Amino acid sequence: MENMIKRAAHDLVNSRYAVALTGAGMSTESGIPDFRGPSGVWTKNPDAERKAYRSYEFFLENPKGWWEERLTTTTIFGDLASAQPNAGHIAIGNLEKAGILKTVMTQNIDGLHEKGGTRNLLEYHGCALKLRCTSCLSRWAREAIDLEGLRKENRLPPICSNCGGIIKTDTVAFGEPIPEDVAEKSLEEAHKCDLMLICGTSAVVYPFANLPRIARHKNSGLLYRSDTSRQPQKSPDTVIIEINAEPTPLTAEGISNYLIQGKTGEILPMIVEEVKRLQ
Ligand code: APR
Repeated sequence: MENMIKRAAHDLVNSRYAVALTGAGMSTESGIPDFRGPSGVWTKNPDAERKAYRSYEFFLENPKGWWEERLTTTTIFGDLASAQPNAGHIAIGNLEKAGILKTVMTQNIDGLHEKGGTRNLLEYHGCALKLRCTSCLSRWAREAIDLEGLRKENRLPPICSNCGGIIKTDTVAFGEPIPEDVAEKSLEEAHKCDLMLICGTSAVVYPFANLPRIARHKNSGLLYRSDTSRQPQKSPDTVIIEINAEPTPLTAEGISNYLIQGKTGEILPMIVEEVKRLQ
């Protein structure tokens, strides 16, 4: 393990444009269950997953009914607002502060990367603490709109004050398009990066799981040196590092260069300590 920590720290310090991709495994040490791990929400309650697959269709058919159900049932995660970042989130924030991580793209909706100090963040599946207009993509903190008041006055769904569009939670449901602004920026980052640090994700949900494959294969073409020899050379491959409790398809397919198997909350702080020693 120690050699892997040193290797990852070396790769990070020598990167030009490193990005991080994260999933629910980042937040289990904050007491928020993941989905497909041994105690995952979908692992323990397949019905909840089947219901989640129907949520967006219900919203499109009946946004008022969708909101009334939303506001009168507890979410599968309980009270996310009081959740606290763990050592893994803080370590990711420190790698950004050290000027190494340029962007963090997370599938997590719990807001813990922001609480852990990350600033340049793309919330690929949105955030449960925010609302979003489905037309103009305006976003608000959830408490900015009195949803309970609208429900009591029979005035749901909330309507966007900027464009008149229908507002929903910022979280992206199965089958719902990834908001264009986040989707475009994430693709850009996958193309720009020369190192991708993938933490706590099973990498089975698309289109997010495409990002590592884009980073791996973007350099499969040939680049030409500017000098007259015009000898084709393969540009250096992106270094893709996985930190996860178990191997994933990225490991099996050789998309990642290596997997550091274990807890993100333990491994990431050790990497940060080694990076500080190298810098
Ligand atoms: N440290 C490292 N890895 C962990 C930890 C931990 N402390 N805890 C769990 N893991 C691993 C699990 O073993 C699993 O491989 O993290 C991974 C989490 O995978 P999922 O539960 O599938 O979560 P994620 O990959 O984020 O799911 C993607 O699926 O249901 C949708 O929208 C939901 O964003 C979510 C998407």
